Amino acid sequence: MSERPWLREGPLEHRVESLLAELTLAEKAGQLNQPANVSPGDDHDALAAGRIGSSLYASGALGGNERDEGLSIAAIEQCQRIAVEESRLGIPVLFGRDVIHGHRTVFPIPLGLAAGWDPDLVERLAAVAGEEAAREGVAWTFAPMVDISEEPRWGRVAEGFGEAPVLSGRLAAASVRGFQRSIGATAKHFVGYGLAAGGRDYDTVQVGENTLRNLHLRTFRDAVDAGVLAVMASFNDVDGTPMHANRRLVREVLKDEWGFDGVVVADWSGVGQLVDHGVAADARDAARQALLAGVDLDMASGCYLAHAEELVVSGAVPAEIVDDAVRRVLRMKFRLGLFDDPYPRTTDEPIGPTASTRALAREAAASSLVLVGNDGVLPLREDVASLHLTGPFVDDGEALLGTWVLDGRGEDVATPLAAFTELLGERVSHTDGRFSDLACHRTREAAVTVALLGEHPSRSGEANSVADLGLPAGQLEALRQLCDLGKPVVAVVFAGRPLDLTEVLRAASAVLVAWHPGTETGPALADVLFGRREPRGRLPMTFPRSTGHVPSSIHARGTSRVIDFSRDVWGGRYLDALTQPQLPFGFGLAYTTFEIGPPALDRSQVPLGGEVGVQVPVANTGGRPGRAVVQLYLHDPVADVTRPKVELLDWQAIDVDAGATGSARFTVSTDAFGYYGRDLSRRVDTGLIRLIAGPDAAHGQAVELTVTEPTATREDDA
Ligand code: GLC
Repeated sequence: MSERPWLREGPLEHRVESLLAELTLAEKAGQLNQPANVSPGDDHDALAAGRIGSSLYASGALGGNERDEGLSIAAIEQCQRIAVEESRLGIPVLFGRDVIHGHRTVFPIPLGLAAGWDPDLVERLAAVAGEEAAREGVAWTFAPMVDISEEPRWGRVAEGFGEAPVLSGRLAAASVRGFQRSIGATAKHFVGYGLAAGGRDYDTVQVGENTLRNLHLRTFRDAVDAGVLAVMASFNDVDGTPMHANRRLVREVLKDEWGFDGVVVADWSGVGQLVDHGVAADARDAARQALLAGVDLDMASGCYLAHAEELVVSGAVPAEIVDDAVRRVLRMKFRLGLFDDPYPRTTDEPIGPTASTRALAREAAASSLVLVGNDGVLPLREDVASLHLTGPFVDDGEALLGTWVLDGRGEDVATPLAAFTELLGERVSHTDGRFSDLACHRTREAAVTVALLGEHPSRSGEANSVADLGLPAGQLEALRQLCDLGKPVVAVVFAGRPLDLTEVLRAASAVLVAWHPGTETGPALADVLFGRREPRGRLPMTFPRSTGHVPSSIHARGTSRVIDFSRDVWGGRYLDALTQPQLPFGFGLAYTTFEIGPPALDRSQVPLGGEVGVQVPVANTGGRPGRAVVQLYLHDPVADVTRPKVELLDWQAIDVDAGATGSARFTVSTDAFGYYGRDLSRRVDTGLIRLIAGPDAAHGQAVELTVTEPTATREDDA
């Protein structure tokens, strides 16, 4: 074997091509094969023969809520030594794991992180998660999930960053930057998965390319522009073509149009499941379609290993298709430095949680909490005479981690009971989730009750959709009983999705949406409830008034009959319910009050390609300092296609002292008004544009500008 030139430093593509040229067709098929949970014993021969290019350690096809026995650095290292030292070309194996919102230190679920509207924080969290995972032999995570969805019945909204492409896209890019300081990241699930019919996971998706481009593809583009090394194909079809066989979107849009040069990895058995979709006759046909569509790496189905060679030899798949796929896999391995440093970098340092990662987790959990109702009972006083904690989340660490946690541990969680007891000592009483008579008795006795209710993580995540957005059975009735006792009750709602909180808001003195906050739930909750940290979360998804109102989001576009709530006229309304959402996108209260707006422009005529400065005054009209999240929305009243009534353009979080004023400043390019028209090409129109500034999607003040033809001279554009 001539010395291995690809091991020498040099231009990436030279290293890739010099190695690719050495591979046999069988070895190429091996590089495209990603079985799950390889072990040095069972898989020794396959590793030594180069039939396993990568592997993922997962608890099973439904990794989101199934635990496994955890990672074994020793097993990973042994597998890697077999591949590097015993196979013909010594190509390292790429080991993947779902590190979604933390590894050993668990942060809030991504939907909770989105409520913090803080890309810098999300980047720091992903960096810590990637570093912890790398220390256990993981080189690649299947995150961030960047699916846009307005469908709270779907269990996987927990894993995403909400319904707004601008918010979700920036957080996705931040996650990619953070993870990829240590390990490879994956933007998933490409594309349209959040549109599954009825919110039922894996169900069919009816959507046109225009909506995909104007809503669902944007976050993937943000991740690709941030340098994500991989993209994962989604389980769903798009208008009849399953994504694992969707040449138009995978090869022509993602790879050709965008120039994505990373790896497209199948989702778990997604290649083989083309047979279940009913578009492939057998595994060979499935492999053929997926390769032609541009799916490079076959997770868990084995179809590529079994059929790729024959497909090329028979001419069913051009050799260049397989070469391109292998080139991408090798490129990712080189980019991750695997050829230079293939073995886990272990140290004696504790992997986590540590004091510093707990401090970060506490900051993240506090930033995720959204105050959605408060009659003045909050913030609580630390000299409160007595406090009663009740509900199923009082001391259940595992239930506070959230879905898609494989390596975090319930026993590491600082629970509400632990944190409140540390703060208040004997003044804390508690009852568990049964909301028993004892709970009523203790509520009567206590100065204030904090009811910790909502849904267990096992009701969210993959394959966990619900048909009813109400609280789990019995909780609302119990809450009402507690509230009817006439003492203040604060409801803290743990959830992996927007829930129907209509009755909770009516009954409780205050309501805090907590998602699933992770390892530092208790201290973060105490920080916010006692006012040591101001509540700063804002909803990243609309909370509908009822399940029957779904879909209900800022995706709503112009229709022929406009809803006008101020007049009894036509419009898509319900006869039996108010139509507007219970809680709008972007909503969240503080312990103070703000007055936001009206926005002021530095010019009202903006040439195509130019920019406009927008200044939004913010007055803190309350008695405490606070953080306002000033949101800037776009409405394009005349376009080539129907456009959203409000579309998030930008936001700025600013801290304003009590009684003080501040201002949010935006610089908006006319390019931000761009969209895909009927001909599926991106365009920016001249004409009227409305910018709306406010505290959420439903309350804002508008200002109008006109986009004009470019001016001839440069100073006009200044
Ligand atoms: C699952 C999920 C995907 C995950 C993969 C590996 O089915 O859909 O998000 O990354 O399989 O666990």
